[in-house]
Amino acid sequence: MQINRVRNLRKVELQGFEGVNVLYGLNGSGKTSVLEAIHLLGMARSFRGNSVKSLITHGENDCTVFGSSERSSETQALALGVQRTRVGEARIKVGGEPVRTVAALAEHLPLQVITAESFDLLTGAPGARRRYLDWGVFHVEQRFFGQWKRFQRCIKQRNNLLRRGKVSGGELEAWTRDLAQTGTAINEYREAYFEALQPVFSEIIAQLSPSLAGLELRYQRGWDKQLGYAEALAQGLVADEEHGYTHTGPQRADIRVMSGAYAAADILSRGQQKLAVCALKLSQGQILAQKGHVSSTYLIDDLPSELDQVHSKRVCDLLATMEAQVFITCIDPREIRSVWPESHDLAMFHVEQGSVEPRSDAQ
Ligand SMILES: Nc1ncnc2c1ncn2[C@@H]1O[C@H](COP(=O)(O)OP(=O)(O)OP(=O)(O)O)[C@@H](O)[C@H]1O
Ligand SMILES: [Mg+2]
Repeated sequence: MQINRVRNLRKVELQGFEGVNVLYGLNGSGKTSVLEAIHLLGMARSFRGNSVKSLITHGENDCTVFGSSERSSETQALALGVQRTRVGEARIKVGGEPVRTVAALAEHLPLQVITAESFDLLTGAPGARRRYLDWGVFHVEQRFFGQWKRFQRCIKQRNNLLRRGKVSGGELEAWTRDLAQTGTAINEYREAYFEALQPVFSEIIAQLSPSLAGLELRYQRGWDKQLGYAEALAQGLVADEEHGYTHTGPQRADIRVMSGAYAAADILSRGQQKLAVCALKLSQGQILAQKGHVSSTYLIDDLPSELDQVHSKRVCDLLATMEAQVFITCIDPREIRSVWPESHDLAMFHVEQGSVEPRSDAQ
């Protein structure tokens, strides 16, 4: 992998990856930046939701990352390349050919990120949870992305009409009909995925922490489940006209981690929340692997923070049994050695002031 001008990484060549790759170094050395670079290669953007400008080295106009997805179902590694510029352009190549959408890139390198920001999944707004859910649906259901694009177009058009008070005439009706159709399809894909996710999540959270075995996932589709989407839209029409936008539908869906009647975010400790987040991410990786798709690559920033040794070890044990590719950061490499199963080969990389060196002798 080659990283150019990503934060403090001016020019970094990285090779010799194993299943598990540990990036260690002092504060500010560039560890998170390496994870950001890998994320850029898979998603063409930052995992922190920051603007791409913050990823480009100060004073430079662009950043680039080249690498390959060696774990794809094809036998040959597939070359991937991403360039982002300060003015917001994205140039993406897959197998040497330019592609126009991030989706065409993302399918080759499914990434799961576990960082301090991942707590948003539990404590943040539903948008983060919908993105989580849709990430899973996207990777297992090929038809989802087409419907998703169609849904975005329909709702934009319908909201435009509502905002401008153009509620009579056939136009609103036609967009509403299309919206109902595509919204129904999206919900079906999400529900099917949720059905598969729920038992895997239960199993994984129980393995990570038996005391959390009672946690469960709940899916809300975004409208009254007694009604079809067309009916819900019809019933909501007056309110939609009043507010000037569509207020029911898949754009309001949510997936929540609950402990009985309580939201996990309200009652779990910080460490328990981190375990729930890990369980959510690991479940998605497991489902993807089960379905015979490209296996996920995990980017884990600072695993030991907030987790004690026993729980860190359980997370690592699960990742090891899943044979997932992992990039994990820490300050002291011993922290990771001690929680990873001994039989596992770890590739160690020392990060120092923006340079990254393989270190086979790191303890
Ligand atoms: N756009 C940028 N251009 C140049 N340097 C940047 C840019 N953005 C951040 N940096 C710097 O890059 C350095 C590495 O940051 P990074 O977050 O990768 O560190 P880290 O090794 O993860 O540290 P920590 O252990 O504190 O998490 C920091 O000194 C940071 O200030
Ligand atoms: Mg960091």
